[in-house]
Amino acid sequence: MAVDTVIMPNSAEAIAEAARRILAGECVAVPTETVYGLAADATNGEAVARIYEAKGRPSFNPLIVHVGTIDMARDIADFSPTALGLAEAFWPGPLTMVLPHREDSPIADIVTAGLPTIALRLPSEPTMRRLLSKVGKPLAAPSANASGQLSPTLAAHVEKSLGGRIGLIVDTKHPPHHGLESTIVAVREEGIELLRAGPITVEQIGAVTGTGVSEALTGKIEAPGQLLSHYAPSKPLRLNAIDADEDEYHLGFGEIGGDSSLSLKGNLEEAASLLFDALHFADASDRHRIAVAPIPETGIGVAINDRLRRAAAGSAG
Ligand code: TXA
Ligand code: MG
Repeated sequence: MAVDTVIMPNSAEAIAEAARRILAGECVAVPTETVYGLAADATNGEAVARIYEAKGRPSFNPLIVHVGTIDMARDIADFSPTALGLAEAFWPGPLTMVLPHREDSPIADIVTAGLPTIALRLPSEPTMRRLLSKVGKPLAAPSANASGQLSPTLAAHVEKSLGGRIGLIVDTKHPPHHGLESTIVAVREEGIELLRAGPITVEQIGAVTGTGVSEALTGKIEAPGQLLSHYAPSKPLRLNAIDADEDEYHLGFGEIGGDSSLSLKGNLEEAASLLFDALHFADASDRHRIAVAPIPETGIGVAINDRLRRAAAGSAG
């Protein structure tokens, strides 16, 4: 059944309204420093089910739980000294840790989809933090897009994907600080495993823990973000494109100008924060295909290239 989707500019009033709806069991789209999240009370199974319903997401795909404080996180998961060190170094911020889920955790079962672990993150975006403190409960929040679509970095993307299916979108009116989904690591006794590349690099993590981060995947898909086709525009996408054909929308970087540039200065942070909006825009243009200039494989460039390879693998071509 279609619902009215209200878009409220970020304000104390918008946060109060978001908190009211969340405590009443609704899910609400809110900005984070990475992408917009579709947030619901993680302790309320019915509320969380509404997230899966709005996204059309397969229910075996577990959700990230967002917390307002490290104490709240420690009521949910067991933190090894390594996990605590990572929390101290990178929280608040775009690092998600997959940790052992505590037996006495208040989180609804549907959030973890039957796994013995739980994905936790303490976000830095002020709007999300105010909401977390107003609600006073952990919030389950996947990216606020219909399952299989690109993650939203603007309220307009959320509206296009989920309009009529959710009641409220809080709009910051600016692109997110990072613009790519959080880095996900599993912190296990045997070591740290990268499940999804993101704004926090393996080098930064290794510098804190003094150990390497293994990228060897276990074979079994733990984070469906690992599925190559997860982030898909509807048009064929080509990477490392120095030139483009006439029917290609060319996204430039640095010296390669293209039809529009991810960053004229060749700044990777800027490119990351604009990437998804640029892909949404190119996807909606009148060209039939998308081409993207080469992006250096350093720093957050690793995560940009990861998302672009997934987009290329999942696109219609
Ligand atoms: O930046 C982000 O992480 C955004 C914002 C909204 O916080 N959220 C986000 O959520 O990207 P989502 O649901 O689109 O991606 C979460 C990923 C999924 O691929 C899911 O499978 C994985 O995290 N995940 C969740 N719980 C897990 C667990 N216990 N073990 C392994 N992977 C898990
Ligand atoms: Mg997602």
